[in-house]
Amino acid sequence: MDQSKLINKTKEQLKIEPNLINYEATAKDFDYKVMEQEIEFVDGKLNAAYNAVDRHLKTDRKDKPALIWCGDDNQEKIFTFEQLSKFSNKIANALVKLGAQKGDRVFIFLPRIPELYASFLGIVKTGAIAATLFAAFGPEALSDRLADSGTKFVITTSQLKSRVEEIFDDLKDLQKVLVVSDSEDCELTDYEIDFNKLIADESEEFDTVMMDPKDSCFMLYTSGTTGKPKGVVHHHYAILHEHLTAKWVLDVHDSDVYWCTADPGWVTGIAYGILGIWSAGATSIVHEGRFSAKEWYGIIDKHKVSIWYTAPTAIRMLMKEGVDELKSFDFSSLRYLCSVGEPLNPEAIKWSLDNLGLPFHDNYWQTETGGIVIANYPNMPIKPGSMGKPFPGIHAAIVDEDFNELPPGEEGNLVMKPGWPSMMKEVWNNPEKFNEYFKKGWYITGDRVKVDEDGYFWFVGRADDVINTAGHRVGPFEVESALIEHPAVCEAGVIGKPDKLFGEIIKAFIVLNKGYTLNDELMVDIKKFIKKHLSGHAYPKEIEVRDSLPKTRSGKIVRRLLKAQELGEDTGDTSTLDKD
Ligand code: PRX
Repeated sequence: MDQSKLINKTKEQLKIEPNLINYEATAKDFDYKVMEQEIEFVDGKLNAAYNAVDRHLKTDRKDKPALIWCGDDNQEKIFTFEQLSKFSNKIANALVKLGAQKGDRVFIFLPRIPELYASFLGIVKTGAIAATLFAAFGPEALSDRLADSGTKFVITTSQLKSRVEEIFDDLKDLQKVLVVSDSEDCELTDYEIDFNKLIADESEEFDTVMMDPKDSCFMLYTSGTTGKPKGVVHHHYAILHEHLTAKWVLDVHDSDVYWCTADPGWVTGIAYGILGIWSAGATSIVHEGRFSAKEWYGIIDKHKVSIWYTAPTAIRMLMKEGVDELKSFDFSSLRYLCSVGEPLNPEAIKWSLDNLGLPFHDNYWQTETGGIVIANYPNMPIKPGSMGKPFPGIHAAIVDEDFNELPPGEEGNLVMKPGWPSMMKEVWNNPEKFNEYFKKGWYITGDRVKVDEDGYFWFVGRADDVINTAGHRVGPFEVESALIEHPAVCEAGVIGKPDKLFGEIIKAFIVLNKGYTLNDELMVDIKKFIKKHLSGHAYPKEIEVRDSLPKTRSGKIVRRLLKAQELGEDTGDTSTLDKD
């Protein structure tokens, strides 16, 4: 590594002494058991929502803003830790009266409005499992998740509820749908309840259910290379790791205004938009709207954001808007920038240094890891392009196919010693899938990585067919399944194709049914179909028609070959393929 490329941060840039002063020394003596003093247990039990919000009510943080919500048309709502606690208590009381019990699944299908955040906390306080759904999900994406999990309640809005209605018959365990509505007289079916009316007279006090550390707390569905999305379940004890990483990686101090741009439909929006971040006592910004450079810069300026946690695609989209857009805003409040979800290219770090005076700090983790596991830290020089070093307490290694540890410089599979507090507890209803993650005493990430002589980790790529588009993890199987439901599509194979802006875009190869030819109209129709049925982020930007798709002798479509052909690479060993 060329040392001249190292980015050392000055005291002026850091502004405050970092929470993690000495990475090496801390990592050497680290013990999660000792760190348990950072959170609150009662007779060996805990509740993650209590730790995130309620325990602060005994401190000066009681009246501190916890949530600053920025809606459309300059709307704004502020909730202190106490107000957020009371709001979530009302929801918890209402849910318990409806029959919510420990272990029940309660799904939140809401845009980024305050009700989402308060509901998450309220559900967790009852001992039920809080689960989130991205508001762009269509009926098929919803049905996969709601039916598999056997959800008992769904919380949604009057605008989104028709998508649940469409699949209601598939949801055998669903009892009630709670509807957040602006209007007094929103039309409701017999299983729907007006959320605001339901909680209106509920008490602001609630006896939070204390849980065993390994009791389930939240779940969310994520994609693998085969099959439908899997329900990754996390336990209450995850809050310990999420709290520590919020403090040491995101460097949250009491004086900070923190903004995480991720939606709680994805794990970042839960671990660092709700649990870890409030546990560390941050004032957190939530922006309901979509990406807009002007609005985003305006939020940083207006709310004096000091810590900003976002994703490489968003940074690249800002870069694309040009520097003129930046000029009318004041960024002097910023002191610490972090990024996650996909490789952070060195140009993005250079851009932030040139234009914001600060580098982005990349960090790496997965839905399954429940929290950041590899990171750049404030007090550690950055090597642009590297994800940094394992969090203290995380033992990560690069191994070959036989699980032999590889020396620095060699590419291999990234694995970790199981047992850190936020490691997933189970895959819902699917112990076989859960077991596949573990072999020879290691947790297998599915990512190809290198480590250098100085112990910095460098991302190389996925070991499987999972697609990462704009930081969103998409399973090719889900897209293929949705594609073949379109009347024109007979077979489909889906790959991630490298893209400068989005990291990867989704490309679909399809075989058409007899009587169809691909023209612009059909192309648009197929894309719309996927957006509506699955989700806006999962539609193929490119579609190519083939007469046939490469398959193994057992009939499985070989995506590896489609990708190699697309990229003009060596197609490798094709001897086991069906040669028709
Ligand atoms: O491939 C890695 C990529 O995103 C995957 C995890 O996606 P998900 O479970 O949706 O969680 C995303 C939010 C943490 C990983 O297996 N990934 C995540 N962070 C990085 C990354 N790839 C490169 N660099 C990163 N910093």
